[in-house]
Amino acid sequence: GTVVLAYSGGLDTSCILVWLKEQGYDVIAYLANIGQNENFEEARKKALALGARKVYIEDVSREFVEEFIWLAVQANALYEDRYLLGTSLARPCIARKQVEIAQKEGAQFVSHGATGKGNDQVRFELTCYALCPQIKIIAPWRMPEFYNRFRGRNDLMDYAKKHGIPVPVTPKSPWSMDENLMHISYEAGILENPKNQAPPGLYTKTKDPATSPDTPDILEIEFRKGVPVKVTNTKDGATRQSSLELFVYLNEIAGKHGVGRIDIVENRFIGMKSRGIYETPAGTILYHAHLDIEAFTMDREVRKIKQGLALKFSELVYNGFWYSPECDYVRHCISKSQEMVEGKVCVSAFKGQVYILGRESPRSLYNEELVSMNVQGDYEPSDATGFININSLRLKEYHRLQSKVAAK
Ligand code: ARG
Ligand code: SIN
Repeated sequence: GTVVLAYSGGLDTSCILVWLKEQGYDVIAYLANIGQNENFEEARKKALALGARKVYIEDVSREFVEEFIWLAVQANALYEDRYLLGTSLARPCIARKQVEIAQKEGAQFVSHGATGKGNDQVRFELTCYALCPQIKIIAPWRMPEFYNRFRGRNDLMDYAKKHGIPVPVTPKSPWSMDENLMHISYEAGILENPKNQAPPGLYTKTKDPATSPDTPDILEIEFRKGVPVKVTNTKDGATRQSSLELFVYLNEIAGKHGVGRIDIVENRFIGMKSRGIYETPAGTILYHAHLDIEAFTMDREVRKIKQGLALKFSELVYNGFWYSPECDYVRHCISKSQEMVEGKVCVSAFKGQVYILGRESPRSLYNEELVSMNVQGDYEPSDATGFININSLRLKEYHRLQSKVAAK
């Protein structure tokens, strides 16, 4: 049968490619360009040299921004209070294209190089099954005939040498990386001991805040329906308007100021804790800016409900349920909540931090006259006396009971 393999060009998926051929499969290699730093043409040549019948290199970076990242921005999506979900959001985007190719090619199988212990296998496969129920998935790292043969990197290297797979000349970094337009993650290897600090040379998308520029960049970010539509740098007047270019620009500015680094221990869906280091430069700026414009324009009670939905959304995305009825429903609600989220937020990126400097909006619920300490506005101060009296009723009753219990 024919298998579409999610190929990265690295050692693991190169060995998987050759191994699949060995098992008798006709292999089509698929490499998603999702904004990672990669030599795609080199990877294409490599896949062909290893015996792939065909290679697809698909640029999905714009759809990644518009159909995945923007929804996360609207939601203020955050997993376990800290993780902006860079890898989690990318998986359904990558897998969606993979099944599309499988269908076009009449391939019965898809395959990937995710390990059997992680989140990525779940995200890949739930997406594939949801979009193409009849698809068959080959996950070599969960097949005894594969993992008993490749018990470590040395086995992979030996196999590579034996089968003419070019082995990496530069020594592999002592951790694993996963990169896309939104973030890069570092896990495993020397980082598995959660006490070990990241070596200074690890970071690739952000500068060290300790040595980043001594003057901030001040950006005006304009939102419409909760989505950034324009960024202006007040320093040099540079502007970006289209989704992908805007996001790339924010990555550049945030990265320059060391914005977006975190080091966390998180709970994988599969049930174990893992330690990860992440850099999400543009995502971090947009997270703060969007929170601000949302608070400015959204009704208080709607906001509370939406916050609960966002928590659910984040968990669904992390666990791989992007294509599920419940996630579809939650996305609709979140999108409805964003209709009035419009305006401009001024932010400063400086020494690893994002500072909110001000905001304006034609759709704001903020009423300067109503809130002013100097103007009465459409408000009767004496009404507040009754408001407080009624609210204190319950508190007085509770205190009465407490005193009675204490007296016994
Ligand atoms: N722990 C993060 C997540 O589950 C990052 C996963 C990184 N994946 C990888 N294949 N290195 O979203
Ligand atoms: C992997 O297991 O392939 C990477 C880590 C993860 O998916 O959580």
